[in-house]
Amino acid sequence: MTAATPLASSTTEALRPHAEQTYAAEIEALAKADDRQRPPGWQLSPWAVAQYLLGGQAADGTEITPKYIGARRVVEVAVSTLATDRALLLIGVPGTAKTWLSEHLAAAISGDSTLLVQGTAGTAEEAIRYSWNYARLLAEGPSEEALVPSPIMTAMGRGSVARVEELTRMPSDVQDALITVLSEKTLPVAELGTEAQAQRGFNLIATANDRDRGVNDLSSALRRRFNTVVLPVPDSAEDEVDIVSRRVEQLGRSLDLPRVPESITEIRRVVTVFRELRSGVTEDGQTKVKSPSGTLSTAEAISVVTNGIALAAHFGDGRLSPGDVASGIRGAVVQDRVSDGVVWDEYLETVVRERAEWRDLYRACREVGA
Ligand SMILES: Nc1ncnc2c1ncn2[C@@H]1O[C@H](COP(=O)(O)OP(=O)(O)OP(=O)(O)O)[C@@H](O)[C@H]1O
Ligand SMILES: [Mg+2]
Repeated sequence: MTAATPLASSTTEALRPHAEQTYAAEIEALAKADDRQRPPGWQLSPWAVAQYLLGGQAADGTEITPKYIGARRVVEVAVSTLATDRALLLIGVPGTAKTWLSEHLAAAISGDSTLLVQGTAGTAEEAIRYSWNYARLLAEGPSEEALVPSPIMTAMGRGSVARVEELTRMPSDVQDALITVLSEKTLPVAELGTEAQAQRGFNLIATANDRDRGVNDLSSALRRRFNTVVLPVPDSAEDEVDIVSRRVEQLGRSLDLPRVPESITEIRRVVTVFRELRSGVTEDGQTKVKSPSGTLSTAEAISVVTNGIALAAHFGDGRLSPGDVASGIRGAVVQDRVSDGVVWDEYLETVVRERAEWRDLYRACREVGA
């Protein structure tokens, strides 16, 4: 069984390198000084994994950038779960960094975040177990060589962390194929009369979206095999501004966008607009507003600002202005033209317009339409 070989060089010019590639130097610096006990098969101790995620400084002075910004406890519970025989289920509303955290956990623990199964309504059991190279299967009959392992089977063999994205979008019978994997730590191959046995270090991280609840709920048998960690929406506006500015910076660097200084004012405003519309009340608690149908997640705020920066850098004067974020904000808010259009219009007139220091934003938003 061989690992998938990338079709093109995956390090030099990949549009989006994997976490273990982007942060190889950080992981190496942490590993070098890491004298705490490592669970079998782990390349770092749980303590060092948490430091990789939360940021800080390695013993040799290497700066560790924070990946997850939020409660330390959330990260500690997630990491320590993976050191037990229970799998980890990350749930939360859209854009709360479930996918992001799971990628970085796999990168820090196993040095490989690519053993991934994407859950959809069409995911088949083979995606969790194994399939066959049919040319060989027909020519030679079932054999080890004709077997094509799933990412999960590969992770079992290597003692690595596997990931399942959007677990609850998969049909329930497909989800249940995970039960044997998680409880017996084996995957029987009936056709060969053999089984794949998980090596130490194997575990699984699944993500599920709160909004999908009820689509294909987890069976209780499967749920019992997971420790659930809920990723919260950022507590305060400051936390969210912090997340957005850091991620926008990192994204700008990885996309080689020209630098746009002093974008903090617009970031604050985008975050404030999103938070107020999400919560249905202004930050000062004085005015009730209606909430639109979209989620207005932190992730969407990040992309509104990143798009704004691309606009400012290439077509503006190199500074982020309200005009660069206005259409992005409107696009995120107005998902349904009729009902959300009304919500947005009302918010513009009753909140944005009333703030003296937001006049320029009001004008920019009016220009892109209501
Ligand atoms: N607390 C946070 N710390 C760091 N980054 C965050 C945080 N919250 C959101 N992000 C950023 O938001 C972006 C989107 O996150 P991600 O795709 O992981 O969300 P998700 O929870 O998987 O959403 P979905 O349910 O839509 O799949 C990422 O770029 C991530 O860096
Ligand atoms: Mg996700």
